[in-house]
Parts: sequence; C-alpha cells; structure tokens
Amino acid sequence: MDRFGKRFLDRVYTENEQRYSRNRAEELAVRFAGKEAISKALGTGMRGVSWLELEILNNRRGKPFIRLHGAARARAKQLGLTSFEISLTHSRDLAIAFVVATTD
Ligand SMILES: CC(C)(COP(=O)(O)OP(=O)(O)OC[C@H]1O[C@@H](n2cnc3c(N)ncnc32)[C@H](O)[C@@H]1OP(=O)(O)O)[C@@H](O)C(=O)NCCC(=O)NCCS
Repeated sequence: MDRFGKRFLDRVYTENEQRYSRNRAEELAVRFAGKEAISKALGTGMRGVSWLELEILNNRRGKPFIRLHGAARARAKQLGLTSFEISLTHSRDLAIAFVVATTD
C-alpha cells in the first residue's frame, strides 16, 4: 500500500472492502489472506481468479462472509460448492484466514 497506494487498493479490494478497512493495514492484510484462502478452497490459487472476484464483507454483527463474482463464482458452481465459511484473525503483525467450503 505504501508503494502503490490507491492503485494497489483498487486492484485487490472492492469498494465495499475499502470502505470497511479504511486503509487500516491489519484489515487489509487479513482480507488479503482471506482472498488467498478462498482461492485455495476453489483450488485455483490466485492465478485462475482475480482479487476483486473474491469479496469479503461483514454483516451487522461484524461476522465476515464471502461473496463471489465472475470466474470465481463459476468455479464454485462447477465444483458444487454452495456454502463458504470464513474465519479471520489478526494482531499487529500477523493475519490469518481460514476458509471452509461445503457442498449440499
Ligand atoms: C496459492 C496462492 C494463493 C498463495 O501461495 P503462496 O504465496 O505461495 O503462499 P502460501 O504459503 O500461503 O501457500 C502455499 C500453499 O498453498 C497451497 N496451494 C498452492 N496452490 C494451491 C491451489 N491451487 N489450491 C489450493 N491450495 C494451493 C499449497 O499447500 C502450498 O503449500 P506447499 O507448496 O507447501 O504445498 C498463490 O496462488 C498466489 O497467487 N499467491 C500470491 C499472489 C500475490 O501475492 N500477488 C500479489 C499481487 S498484488
């Protein structure tokens, strides 16, 4: 973020994610980890999908949830993945994300 500023933010985070994170490094870092974790659940890694297609939002209570778009959504459908759960945690220096995707 220090190096590329808004260009980096716009490439990796949706408008909603940027609004929630408000440039806070911990929030951005844990969402970065979360997007990687989603890409792993999809089995593509970050090569088959784009950052903006993997959106991590928060409900009113603060619980994060995932919204997939474009190729990521198509991939989940192809795999029969109907439900995604995500857990995020961060301290000042570390960010960890865990994603579980299930089928009906
Ligand atoms: C998989 C990915 C999401 C992360 O890989 P990474 O940076 O090497 O880092 P991690 O340590 O978090 O992940 C590596 C592990 O992911 C797992 N993995 C790799 N490819 C995977 C895939 N397609 N599906 C599921 N899991 C995968 C493997 O277990 C791997 O560990 P291993 O090599 O010991 O077996 C990779 O696709 C990627 O694109 N990474 C970073 C991209 C990036 O930083 N871009 C910057 C642009 S702003």
